Order: sequence, then C-alpha cells, then structure tokens
Amino acid sequence: MAAVLNYEPLVLSPRRESPALTPIQEEILALKRERKAVILAHNYQVEAIQQVADYVGDSLGLSYHAQAAQADVILFCGVHFMAETAKIVNPGRTVLLPDLDAGCSLSDSCPAKRLAAYKAAHPEAYVVAYINCSAGVKALSDVICTSGNAVRIVNRVPADREILFVPDQNLGQWVAQQTGRTMKLWPGSCYAHVQFTVRALEKVRLQFPHAPVVAHPECVQAVRDLADEVCSTELMVKFAKENPANEIIVLTESGMLHRLRREVPGKTFIAGPTDTCACNDCRFMKLNTIEKVRDALKNLSPVIEVPEPIRAAALVPIQRMLDWSRP
Ligand code: 13P
Ligand code: SF4
Repeated sequence: MAAVLNYEPLVLSPRRESPALTPIQEEILALKRERKAVILAHNYQVEAIQQVADYVGDSLGLSYHAQAAQADVILFCGVHFMAETAKIVNPGRTVLLPDLDAGCSLSDSCPAKRLAAYKAAHPEAYVVAYINCSAGVKALSDVICTSGNAVRIVNRVPADREILFVPDQNLGQWVAQQTGRTMKLWPGSCYAHVQFTVRALEKVRLQFPHAPVVAHPECVQAVRDLADEVCSTELMVKFAKENPANEIIVLTESGMLHRLRREVPGKTFIAGPTDTCACNDCRFMKLNTIEKVRDALKNLSPVIEVPEPIRAAALVPIQRMLDWSRP
C-alpha cells in the first residue's frame, strides 16, 4: 500500500515582485502580436502560462471573455470543453488548444449518447449541464452553468420542472442544498477533486490551526462540510481578499495558488493535500506547457472545430446561462 500522509504541505508564501519573463515567454508575446491572438488561461494553468495570458479566470469569466474576443486567434489554455465553448460562442475566430489531449474526466463521464437515451426515456426532464461537458451534451441541455453561477441558474429554472443535473454529482448535491431544489444527479465526478479527504484536511489543519479553508464544490460533501467557504475558483480570489486571515488552505487544483498569490500578494496559501500528495494537480490541465503554447501560436495548431449543427444547438443553453448570470 502507498505511504499516506507522509509529506510536507505545499505552502506558497508572499512574493512581492513578479519574476522576469523567460526567453520563451518573450517569444510567445511577440508571436501573440504577430498572430493577432489573445491568450485566455484557466486558473489551473502553470504559472509560466498564467504570466503570458491576457486573462486568467474561471470557466464563467473565460466564457464571457471568449465571446467578447475581437482577436483573429483565441489561444485557449485550459481543457478541451473550455476551448470548445470558446468556439461555440465566437465561431468566427480560430480557437487553439495547446494540447488536444487536455480532456476532463468529469466531461467524459457523461457521453452525449447516454444523455440522449436518458432524455428519450424522461422527456419531461429539464437538463442543467455543468459547463464541464462536451459540445454534444451542451446541445442536448436546457441551460449551462458553471460553479460560479450554478445556484443562480438553478434558482431560475421554472419550479414545476424536474431537473436533471449533469455531469457532476458533488456540485449538483451542493447546489441542491443551497437552493432547496430536488434534482436528479448524473453519477459523474472530477477525479482530482474527489481525492481531497477529511483525513488529509485534518492533518494540514493541525499545522495551520488558524487558516480558514476554501473548497471547490466538486469536492465530496464530507470535505465541503469542513470548509469555511465553498465556491468557484474566481470567488476564491474574492474570499482571499476579504477574509482577514493571513494564511488560507485552498482545496482545489494547485495552479489556483499562483493566481491567488499574484492577486492577493500579502498572504500565504497552503495547497489542499490528498492522502498521498501535498498538492493536487489535474493531469489534463497540466498537459499544456509553455513550449506547447509557443508551438500552437507558431503553427496555428491544434485547432478546435465544432460541427455547425452541434455548435448552433449548444449555443442556445450557453447563451441562456450568460443572459441569466450577467451582473
Ligand atoms: P471553475 O469554473 O470554478 O474554475 O472550475 C473549473 C473546473 O474545471 C474545476 O475543476
Ligand atoms: Fe476536469 Fe477535474 Fe481537471 Fe477540472 S480538475 S478539468 S473537472 S478533471
């Protein structure tokens, strides 16, 4: 059996100055100008990618920015469903993803064919789909949500409709608790977030007894119940700014710590540990490297394409989400 809980926590302490750009990062900025590109990056990307991005954020912020982008090229540093969403909302741009294998276990847990079969058997279901799903699943859904707006979106669904929430059962369970709405939950989960355990959290809390805990809603309920705040990655930045504590334990993918350290420079962030590791990397997010970002801009590849009938059908529930969640 693997050794458990045998590690030192990953702690990012305040760093006042941004590190200088490396030659490859400089090359990317030059290529970006040449290609008339914009770089959008998710909070889970490595620090070197976050540093060259025009915008770094959560799935909701990235969707708005993708839709508003005027550049010829959107280089999307995240996973496949995110780049696909950018193409759906802004089809006139060339959308690039540095590594086409950057998928998502959660998205894979809900194949469009299985959702179509469910809908055929339950035509009355109102499908609320977490954005972590394929374009094919979005095309079959009534409205999309992200972790940042899921409560608001579910609250807008007509009260007489029976909701099927896909594909994340943990986020769905949390939203049901927040809204009081009964929902059927698709049995999917994020392989990375379910690795956070009560045992590992208790261990790190002994070392940082005064640090509040902020957790992503994709964590299991037993872990969420121990958190001081449960929210999307973007709202974690707000929490870190507003909470008076100087040390904060962060239960989500480890790339988030770079964003937090940059935006909240005076504080110390402790990566949420798992039973076997001091931090939690999403293996899909981490397929994107700074070299692949450079190569994507150089070669204008790999390109994300979505067949037009699926794109047009998927845009409807995405647009509904954007309209329902506009501040
Ligand atoms: P956010 O939208 O909160 O950034 O979450 C995206 C994600 O993939 C979480 O695993
Ligand atoms: Fe998917 Fe989980 Fe990775 Fe997010 S962290 S992209 S939900 S596998």
